[in-house]
Parts: sequence; C-alpha cells; structure tokens
Amino acid sequence: MKSGRINRRRFVATTALTGVGLTAANYARAAGANEKIGVGFIGCGGRSGAHIHMVKKLIEAGEPLEIVALCDVYKPRANKKADGTSARIYLDHRDLLADPAVDVVCIATPDHHHAQQAIDAMRAGKDVYCEKPISHWRQFELTKELVRVARETKRVFQAGTQGLGDPVWRQAEQLVREGAIGQPVHAQCGYFRTGDWGERGMPIDDPNAKPGPDLLWEKFLGDSPKRPFDVSRFFRWRMYEDYAGGPVTDLFPHTLTPVVKVLGVKFPSVVVATGGIFRYPEREIPDTFNMLMDYPEKLTIAVLGTQANDYGVPDVFRGWDAALYFEGQNIVLQPVREANKEKRVIPTERQMAREGSAETFENHWRDFLRCVRTRETPQGNIELAYHVQTALQMGMLSLRHGKAVKFDAKKEEIVI
Ligand SMILES: NC(=O)c1ccc[n+]([C@@H]2O[C@H](COP(=O)([O-])OP(=O)(O)OC[C@H]3O[C@@H](n4cnc5c(N)ncnc54)[C@H](O)[C@@H]3O)[C@@H](O)[C@H]2O)c1
Repeated sequence: MKSGRINRRRFVATTALTGVGLTAANYARAAGANEKIGVGFIGCGGRSGAHIHMVKKLIEAGEPLEIVALCDVYKPRANKKADGTSARIYLDHRDLLADPAVDVVCIATPDHHHAQQAIDAMRAGKDVYCEKPISHWRQFELTKELVRVARETKRVFQAGTQGLGDPVWRQAEQLVREGAIGQPVHAQCGYFRTGDWGERGMPIDDPNAKPGPDLLWEKFLGDSPKRPFDVSRFFRWRMYEDYAGGPVTDLFPHTLTPVVKVLGVKFPSVVVATGGIFRYPEREIPDTFNMLMDYPEKLTIAVLGTQANDYGVPDVFRGWDAALYFEGQNIVLQPVREANKEKRVIPTERQMAREGSAETFENHWRDFLRCVRTRETPQGNIELAYHVQTALQMGMLSLRHGKAVKFDAKKEEIVI
C-alpha cells in the first residue's frame, strides 16, 4: 500500500469525524505528485469502456494510477470491465465510495444518476470526473445542490466535455477577451449527425435479463418514476425521457460548453427551443432540437441540431467589430465591412472534432489528474458545467412547455 493512500485515508477519516471539509492545502499534501491515485468507476457500460481504456493508457505512460474498484447495477458488465485488473466489484455506488482505496471516481451512468452520485462521492471525500450532462433535465434543484457540495467540499470536479481539451478554445477565448471581435453579440454552434444509434442502437446484453441479485432495477430507477422492469428501458435508457433528454442534454453539452467558455457568459436570461421527434418515432425524446438563448450581456447564442442529417453549421462568434470562425486548422477574424480592416488568419493546433479527439480526451483526463494533485480548477469545472446545464435544462423545459423560459439570476431559479 502506498503511503499516499494511507495518508489520504487517515485524512478523510479525520475530516469525516470532525465534519470539517477537506482544505486544498491538506489535500495537496495527501495526493503528492508521485503518490498513486486509486480510480473507481461508477457505471460500466459503453462510455466507461473508453475511460478505462484511457486510464490504462495513462498507466502505461507512467501515470501513478490504479483501477481499484468498479460499480454497476448489472454485475455482468462490471465483471467484464474488471478483466485484467484487480479491481473490487460493487453493485451499489455507496459501497464503492466507502472503499478507502478509491481516491477519485469516474461516473458514467445514465444521466439521472450523475448529480446524486457526484454529490455522494464528493461528500465521501472523492474527486470526480463526471460524464455530461451533469444532471438530468428535470433535476434543477439537485443541480444546485451539486454545485453547493462541490463548492463546500472543494473537491475537484471535471465534467465530461472532453472537447475542452482542444487548445483552440483557449486561443479563441483569449482573442475574444482581448477584444479581437469587439463586443460579442451573436454566436452559433450545432450538433448534427445521422442515425439514432446512440439510443435505439444501444446493445441489449441479455433480452431475458430480470431483476435479481445481479441486476438492481430499483437502483437503476433512482429518483426517476417507479416503473416495472423493462429490458429496453434498462439497456436503452437513452430513448426515454425519465433518464435522458435527447440532443439537448446528450449532445449539446459538447457544443455549447466551449462557446460559453469562449464568451465568458454565465446564465441566459431567456431560452426558446423548438424541435421534436421528426425522424425516429420509436423514441420518447426529441431527435431534432434548436435553441435560441439570450444572455444579459446582450448577446444571443443559437444551438441547432438534428440526428436526421449530419451536414452541420460552422461555429461562429460575431462581435461588433469582427466575426471569429474556424477554417481548417486556423482561426479566422473577419472584420465587419465598416471596420475597413484586413482579415486575419491565425494558425492553431485545432483538433477539429466536436466531441474531441483521442488527444483532447487524454488532455481532459490529464487536466483532471493534474488538478487532483495541485487542487487547481479543471477546465470542465463545476461552475462552467452549471451555467451550461442550466441553459440546456431551460431549453428542454421550453420545448416541453411550448414557451420561452426565463432565468431569475438573483434567486437562481428557472421561471416557466
Ligand atoms: N463524453 C462523451 O463523449 C460521452 C460519450 C458517450 C456517453 N457519455 C455519457 O456517459 C453516460 C453513460 O453512457 P453509456 O453510453 O456508457 O451508457 P451505458 O448504458 O452503456 O452504460 C451505463 C451503465 O450504467 C449502469 N448503471 C445504471 N444505473 C446505475 C447505478 N445507479 N449505479 C451504477 N451503475 C448504473 C448500467 O447498468 C450501464 O452498464 C451517459 O450519461 C452519457 O451521456 C459521454
């Protein structure tokens, strides 16, 4: 057992007893640069496969990490992912969180579990890499609690919007901050793809699966409406609104997060959404979704998308003086006609992948691990994720209620 792990365990135990939150300085001592970090995975399906693969790659590259625990309400999946590791297996995430060998958790469960499991993890003293969306679209109060707990416990929280690992966003953010486009007034982005393979195409491991000691249906349901067991709901949860939201919460976190970061905005003042089930009638959630968001800074962000056609819209940031867009590896600054200035083309290391490439995914993990050690704030931090998630939840509520949804910034409340 590494001394770092022992130090940290003692420290967590002490803080749990005294009720005092972990402080940045203390934790930094406990998780020094060379001490092994024990990683636990909550949810052992498709996405966690990519995370486990990444962690193994980082271990091979010399990162002091160890996969120590895996949790899934469907034991065969946890068993499969445990292959080649000496990880302990749990069916209830709270048991994994009680495992002192777990220093950080990676949460890749269905959307409706993210916030509660992240809260439980941070309260147990663990740092969290949490898949997007950080909560389900009906969980705004829980989202606020998640933010409160992250602030109080000072745990590192990295949302799974790995495209942020693309260095082009930092460059664009810097240019906008320096005034390269003048006062930002309008931005557009989108997520277009063909096929609902992300929903209807999810694998059904066992069509005869039934609740029992190796399949905890009640734990799968969590705080969602109580329903009798259903194989499709269990394995293809993305098709159902109890557990998912469609493009707005599944895909738009990728597209909107960097845009919000570049513009430096927080909560929108009003959101209007349109869309619906235009192409794939077997699902409950929309396949086509469009959002217009106005921000108090007097700027609009438009996010467009459908799963019926993958011909996309380019990301564009428009200011009073110039537009910023991307052309191949370059950032282009196109002045408004009246400015009478030259177009500027700025080379970048742009990865050109909406959800990020293998490199941006690795960057995102490395950023998380660096922050676990230094107690700095990661790029996909909770405040950014909160602002984005609030806008996305407002979008979903706007579509469902068929009206514009406002945000009361003073009370931090969504007003329908
Ligand atoms: N960042 C990305 O690019 C990206 C890509 C794919 C998925 N995701 C996100 O990852 C999450 C998981 O997606 P997926 O495709 O892996 O789904 P999945 O169904 O393949 O995996 C989810 C796993 O969680 C398990 N589970 C359900 N309830 C649980 C609970 N209460 N405790 C523990 N385990 C539980 C399920 O049995 C299943 O094995 C989603 O929220 C999705 O949005 C992100």
